[in-house]
Amino acid sequence: MGEIQGTEFIRRDDFLPFFRPDLGEAELAAVTDVLRSGWLTYGPKVREFGEACGLYLGVPHAVPVSSASSGLLVALKALGVGPGDEVILPSLTFVATLGAVVHCGARPVLADIDPANLGMAPESFAAAITPRTKAVIPVHLAGHPCRIEEILAIAKAHGIRVLEDAAHAFGAEVRGKRLGGLSDATVFSFYATKCITSGDGGLVTTNDPEVARRVQVLSFHGMDGNAWQRYTDKGRWYYEIVEFGYKMHLGDPAAALGLVQLGRSDEFMARRTEIAHRFSAALAGLPGLVLPTAADWCTHAWHLYAVRVDRDVIDGGRDGVIADLTANRIGSSVHFIPLHYHPVFREAGSEFAPHLGQTERYFDQAVSLPLFPSMTDQEIDDVVTVVRESLRRRCR
Ligand SMILES: Cc1ncc(COP(=O)(O)O)c(C=O)c1O
Repeated sequence: MGEIQGTEFIRRDDFLPFFRPDLGEAELAAVTDVLRSGWLTYGPKVREFGEACGLYLGVPHAVPVSSASSGLLVALKALGVGPGDEVILPSLTFVATLGAVVHCGARPVLADIDPANLGMAPESFAAAITPRTKAVIPVHLAGHPCRIEEILAIAKAHGIRVLEDAAHAFGAEVRGKRLGGLSDATVFSFYATKCITSGDGGLVTTNDPEVARRVQVLSFHGMDGNAWQRYTDKGRWYYEIVEFGYKMHLGDPAAALGLVQLGRSDEFMARRTEIAHRFSAALAGLPGLVLPTAADWCTHAWHLYAVRVDRDVIDGGRDGVIADLTANRIGSSVHFIPLHYHPVFREAGSEFAPHLGQTERYFDQAVSLPLFPSMTDQEIDDVVTVVRESLRRRCR
């Protein structure tokens, strides 16, 4: 990788990044207000943000946390996962999904994807179940819901807990219902590049008040419920540590930013969908190129627009297209290097590194194009022009 040379087709004065957050005056004002208030850490804004997210997603409990990575860890712990347990997750995900399993002391078991939606294939999940399987973490990759209803049915039949990694899918729906309340718990990311952002941040949602309570306690040092109030006029100095937890809560400046972004979530989603449709119309029918689609049973959040480039048809495959995008000052990315390709897995031996055909084929072909709400029409056209020209020149 890396040796393939790209060609410049268009003149761009500036670099089009893979992602540029859309932050306006309202976001600046909200954060400034919090800074002026003098309350810089966990406080009333975090609680307000959690409640507003719960209302938006239609789920009774929504606990803001410092990131989706930390949310996955405390949610898995809250679901009772620990040493001796196995947790099934797709290999096609970010390392955070895996880290949560390993840091619980559980053994990760990797499953393959359904190439139609890039989420875990229910068949592969079912085949990976053993008597030690305690939980499964389906990932809604790129913002397209995975086949969660089938996964839930299999999990229920085997008494397996389900934690959804919806880091990419804030606002996505399955049969008209937003993700967040379908399974035992769901985790969202508010990292800078995600559907909405609080800079860094995440959210754990659940219908189960006990899971919500444990996530709250675990993400706040293991302190009992109202300890955060101890520096307010309503608080008192006394608190109790009820279990060993972590410092993984959100802070008020981030929550204030997240609240404004939450109010813009529908606007962002509409624009991302519009851009995705423009890409799909302009790139349809090109030899060697497979475009992402949305199944009719869901609403795609379009966090990513990942195309597949067939190296049997296109010289250099996706690496050639990436080289041309780079030569034309357009950012791109690959989501993701499968977990079982990483040294930590390779060193763990074949038991941890199964052959996952769909995942490996997808990774060989995938490239994510820039897609974010503040992209201008000119920027969209530039991406289309470069991809089309790259494929035309590289077509064998
Ligand atoms: C699928 C997936 N899960 C979890 C995470 C972790 O999110 P965060 O950066 O909020 O910890 C990411 C981040 O990119 C992700 O892509």
